[in-house]
Amino acid sequence: MSLTTFATADAGFEPASPAARRGIAKPAKVTVPSLQQKKFLRQPITCVTAYDYASARLIDEAGLDLILVGDSLAMVMQGQPDTLAITLDEMLLYTRGVRRAVKRALLVADMPFGSYQVDDREGVANALRFVKEAGAEAVKVEGGANRASLVRRLTDAEIPVMGHIGLTPQSVHRMGGYKVQGKTLAAVDRLRADALTLEDAGCFAIVLEGMPRELGTILTAELKIPTIGIGAGPDCDGQILVLHDMLSLTFSPPAKFVRRYADIGASITRAVEEYKQDVESRSFPTEDESYHLPAGVQL
Ligand code: KIV
Repeated sequence: MSLTTFATADAGFEPASPAARRGIAKPAKVTVPSLQQKKFLRQPITCVTAYDYASARLIDEAGLDLILVGDSLAMVMQGQPDTLAITLDEMLLYTRGVRRAVKRALLVADMPFGSYQVDDREGVANALRFVKEAGAEAVKVEGGANRASLVRRLTDAEIPVMGHIGLTPQSVHRMGGYKVQGKTLAAVDRLRADALTLEDAGCFAIVLEGMPRELGTILTAELKIPTIGIGAGPDCDGQILVLHDMLSLTFSPPAKFVRRYADIGASITRAVEEYKQDVESRSFPTEDESYHLPAGVQL
């Protein structure tokens, strides 16, 4: 524990966040109905992933609408080759950390592969764990019409559900890789039917991933619920990016749809190299960065 953390915990106050210091007013809590309202008012919905307390707190204080604890964390946080191996217990652990940070955004947890595919009963039981044990306000499931009965059961159980169609990473083996979906008329028809079925089943929003922008446009016009795009063009009701992609904290070339807003990877490398040099040259720590015996105590 650093002295800053120690002093803060001890003194019982929290230092002002960068957003608070810039005087950004605290907007109202985002809810499922308020997202629906944003679609109605044609106001873009802003979403990003987060997996830990610090980044979730910064994102929340920056005023984004929705934070997703995505199972992409398997790849960007754990270095796994895909999202398939992450477990429910691991997702719960990360979601709890994010929950402690998030006050305003809607907090959505991704149901990991294997936690809802066996049957609806198990899916509902596992989704309930995200709400009861980790404080999620909604869950996300991948798939189309094949998830309709699960979405009905979840919404019956008062758990809001976000759908996810198109390039669904949990289907990587069926798709034969991470490939843009909806490129033939038959595939477009299937995705349109999937989206309408999920809306009818009770989803409050649908992620559209990896599809032609024309399809993103059509689905956004056809659905009454918000569409959240990632590689689905600019006409979706909202956009989501994986935080590590937009901050350059990944180790492979970004997908076409990723815009890099910062190079945090390079900043970390520079900072750690500087620290290494300071330790090796004995210029860290200095006298000022050291504790001293109280006056009168001599060794
Ligand atoms: O896991 C994830 O981060 C996601 C988003 C890319 C939508 O599902």
